[in-house]
Amino acid sequence: MNVVLITGAAGLVGSEAVRFFSARDFHVVGIDNDMRKTFFGEDASTQWNRQNLEETIPNYAHHNIDIREETAINKLFADYGNDISVVIHTAAQPSHDWAAQAPLVDFTVNANGTLVMLEATRAHCPDAAFIFTSTNKVYGDAPNSLPLVEQATRWEIETSHPFYKHGIDESMSIDQTKHSLFGVSKLAADTLVQEYGRYFEMKTGCFRGGCITGPDHSGTMLHGFLSYLVKCAITETPYTILGYKGKQVRDNIHAHDLVNMFWNYAQNPRPGEVYNAGGGRHSNCSILEAVAICEQLSGKSMNISYREDARIGDHIWYVSDTRKFQEHYPDWHYQFNLQQIIKQIYDNMSQRLDCSGSPT
Ligand SMILES: NC(=O)c1ccc[n+]([C@@H]2O[C@H](COP(=O)([O-])OP(=O)(O)OC[C@H]3O[C@@H](n4cnc5c(N)ncnc54)[C@H](O)[C@@H]3O)[C@@H](O)[C@H]2O)c1
Repeated sequence: MNVVLITGAAGLVGSEAVRFFSARDFHVVGIDNDMRKTFFGEDASTQWNRQNLEETIPNYAHHNIDIREETAINKLFADYGNDISVVIHTAAQPSHDWAAQAPLVDFTVNANGTLVMLEATRAHCPDAAFIFTSTNKVYGDAPNSLPLVEQATRWEIETSHPFYKHGIDESMSIDQTKHSLFGVSKLAADTLVQEYGRYFEMKTGCFRGGCITGPDHSGTMLHGFLSYLVKCAITETPYTILGYKGKQVRDNIHAHDLVNMFWNYAQNPRPGEVYNAGGGRHSNCSILEAVAICEQLSGKSMNISYREDARIGDHIWYVSDTRKFQEHYPDWHYQFNLQQIIKQIYDNMSQRLDCSGSPT
């Protein structure tokens, strides 16, 4: 039996990975305790997605376990042992802003939880590829010291800067910047994952996501920017932009394109590697530009308000340079661009929401 073990299996990236690997004849073992509901409330619950996986994926087994529960995690790993050839670790407290409310919860889920997963992998299936969904927040607010210029709808980096053409690469410093507590807990996990590659020579890889997105996101105000924006457009819910005139730029990668990176990596893993994994120059937008696309799709003006106070440590301009990954794995290519991503979220969410805006 060829087993992939996926944490956060009902979340955006996890569920995409379940479908992707299941279609390639893996037996899929998913772990998710719907902690997203605890973090962000009922609207953000991933229970609907878990149910969908259980109903539609025949080779899928779900386990309602907290990744911090060492005994339960080790028992599950022991059940499959060396049949596990890939571990994809996506379970996390994913919000930059939420972390400050409960630093102990954030750190134990993101850092300790990752350590539990690494140790279980080392004990039970040390040859497995271990894939970690890290974040561009490991660079803290260092990107904000790049030379930026204001344009009509977005901030841009100066054309003479080496990052202009392809975006920010992995040489960006992770040190001495403001990370947010979330950035710190993810950085602790990211360096642990690297260390298990370098010290124990395990096949560990870190993928530092930009904005990861797609129709399976349970978008909420504190996490899932495009998904939440589209939800507001459909349900005519007011949306508040925080700071930087709404011109802050994010790169957006479809969860499918990210999981396809995992697939390529898993077939030829390079121990301890780190990759920037966002939409890059291929797929990025400012908030104002994303609002314009949503308005075009819905045919209605959005109810947008603006507050001067930016989120602490928010990136003003972040575009990932994914050339290192493309060089290591030349078969990988983007399948989705920004317009396709937003349209797919829009169509999918229009079907999922009834006319009062409640999840159906
Ligand atoms: N979505 C993004 O824009 C983005 C960007 C960069 C990095 N990331 C990282 O990618 C990963 C996946 O993000 P996502 O958008 O799919 O998040 P998500 O919230 O949609 O999915 C995460 C899942 O993990 C589960 N979970 C949380 N804590 C858990 C615990 N203690 N035990 C078991 N399950 C738990 C949640 O219930 C949720 O279903 C995270 O590690 C996140 O930090 C996400």
